[in-house]
Amino acid sequence: MSAPASSAPSARSAGLPASQSPAAQRGTAAAAGARPLLETRELTIRFGGHVAVNAVSCAFRPGELTCIVGPNGAGKTTYFNLVSGQLPSTAGQILLDGEDVTRLPVSQRTRRGIGRAFQLTSLFPQLSVLENVRLAVQARQQRGIDLFSMWTSHRGVRAQALAILERVALAGKQHLTVASLPHGDQRKLEVGILLALQPRVFMFDEPTAGMSVDEVPVILDLIREIRQDRSKTVLLVEHKMDVVRSLADRIIVLHNGTLVADGDPAEVIASPVVQQAYLGMAEEEKTEGANHG
Ligand SMILES: Nc1ncnc2c1ncn2[C@@H]1O[C@H](COP(=O)(O)OP(=O)(O)O)[C@@H](O)[C@H]1O
Ligand SMILES: [Mg+2]
Repeated sequence: MSAPASSAPSARSAGLPASQSPAAQRGTAAAAGARPLLETRELTIRFGGHVAVNAVSCAFRPGELTCIVGPNGAGKTTYFNLVSGQLPSTAGQILLDGEDVTRLPVSQRTRRGIGRAFQLTSLFPQLSVLENVRLAVQARQQRGIDLFSMWTSHRGVRAQALAILERVALAGKQHLTVASLPHGDQRKLEVGILLALQPRVFMFDEPTAGMSVDEVPVILDLIREIRQDRSKTVLLVEHKMDVVRSLADRIIVLHNGTLVADGDPAEVIASPVVQQAYLGMAEEEKTEGANHG
């Protein structure tokens, strides 16, 4: 709350063009020439007099993992809610692979490949872990994207669901009801359901929040794996800077709803705007580092 929004425009120059991002330097599909998979143009939402997301223009290319950082209340989750369709924008546009999806409901956006981790409480808490993933696999197949007809059999769907549970380290808990899972397992299941839907755009909002230290690597390895698929784009809201450093091809910074920096991770982290906004966080990180030896 301390930094005035007016400091934003000058800070943005701290960012680098996408062509200088590590992904571009690797010469991958994420090179600046690739067509954006997701783009927001002047995307805005107002709650009463408060502008929670303020004219955010940003393009995300396939093969790129973008970390979105910013202090609490910066508008990160709201930005995700706008992209996924949970909230209607006040102004601006959202384009998926060039198609304007700004006015489409959540279900249509999901069908087109915008993937947001679900709140499990709104799914089927009384069904088993396996059933929940199986339903997600089925939902995706009904979308008509799956080309392998053999998988349309009941056994095929089950086999895929089990394979996903292996990947999120929940195979041993497949028969438990979702409602009975501890928090960390529920978060892993959210990621599993997202994998089952095979989106093109993956959005993770603090995916390891509240997880125990031994659970975190499972999720981070999965995100790394998804990033290997050069046809996907990953958006990750994360406040742990060691995680950001290890995963990001690019960082964007939101502050008071405004995009204030965008570019190469090392440059953005070193930029004055981030150093200022994260002074508190840097202290926190040092403490965490000390705790973990
Ligand atoms: N549904 C809502 N109604 C009113 N204000 C909201 C709503 N959702 C978010 N906000 C406000 O928008 C701002 C951004 O919130 P949020 O996107 O959750 O921040 P972040 O995820 O970066 O911590 C906050 O000031 C928050 O109180
Ligand atoms: Mg948030």
